[in-house]
Amino acid sequence: MKLSDIKSSEAELQDYYAQLRSQHITPAWIGGGITREPKSKAVPWVWHWRDLRPQAMRAAQLVGTEQAERRVLRLTNPELPGLSASNTMVANIQIVMPGEVARAHRHSGSALRLIIEGKGGYTVVNGARLSMAPGDLVLTPNWTWHDHANDTDGPMMWLDGLDTPLVRMLEAGFYEEYHKETQTIVEGAGSPFVKYGEGGLRPVWEAQPATRYSPLWHYPMFQARAALERLAADRSGGPLDGIILEYTNPVTGGPAMPTIACYIQMLRAGERTQAHRSVCCTNYHVIEGRGYSIVGGTRLDWEDKDVFTVPTWTFREHVNDSDRPAFLFSFTDAPVMRALDLYREEAKAG
Ligand SMILES: [Fe+2]
Repeated sequence: MKLSDIKSSEAELQDYYAQLRSQHITPAWIGGGITREPKSKAVPWVWHWRDLRPQAMRAAQLVGTEQAERRVLRLTNPELPGLSASNTMVANIQIVMPGEVARAHRHSGSALRLIIEGKGGYTVVNGARLSMAPGDLVLTPNWTWHDHANDTDGPMMWLDGLDTPLVRMLEAGFYEEYHKETQTIVEGAGSPFVKYGEGGLRPVWEAQPATRYSPLWHYPMFQARAALERLAADRSGGPLDGIILEYTNPVTGGPAMPTIACYIQMLRAGERTQAHRSVCCTNYHVIEGRGYSIVGGTRLDWEDKDVFTVPTWTFREHVNDSDRPAFLFSFTDAPVMRALDLYREEAKAG
């Protein structure tokens, strides 16, 4: 047995290819080559809050919530065709003004909110009212009803993270409007945080949820901050990302949602993390702090409330060169990669 050595004329080949084209068939040996490792179309990018906030306020002057299902600015990676920050996940900014509601709907894409500005507005998820404060993480997972309301006297703004590019690619998207503008809040149903918010303690009388997403839809910042500060005082932390915590599903210990994992990390003053990369795209939000990240050789300077993106299989390292701690929220599609046995990670040698 050996490799064959057939020689054809260019004219013969071109004639054959033309026939194939007319039959909507493509020979796999021309065109796309073999990829030895992932090379994202997306590029490392940072969106600064100093640019985002005025544009969100302008949107609130120009567009009403009657007109827009959601008043959202999509952060658009310059090299991606699909108007998203990263390949599989969007990172958007949403604004709800005092007295406004964003009406109830549900969709098969899963979403998270990381509250940036405003305290006391709320999201209703399947009838449960979740109040929102800066740094809080609120989940509206796959096919849960959700609406937002701002009963405060200032704007409410948050980061929206969704898996919609992935769901669209899979052609698995469903969407439904609620039969009225806002959900009725289910009194006495119990807050998910009261039931599940105590970390290692799970209410035994609650049936195991049939869904894979976390039943704890609200992860307040005060709790995450306290945990990070305890770990910092204990000088804990791993080699790659320092002190980083995952928001878990309290029933399974797994990721918050089947398609999106969420993390919060604390970079101590002067800390520099080790460069590493993984097969997942990651979007970061700077809850507070100032520093920079080297992402695929590009320096991204960031400060309070900025958003930046790290494409898949791209080395990143974070530097807090300020004199105060920095808190970074991040979300990734790692659960998808793990579910499909595609996940890899490595530290940069040297
Ligand atoms: Fe939604």
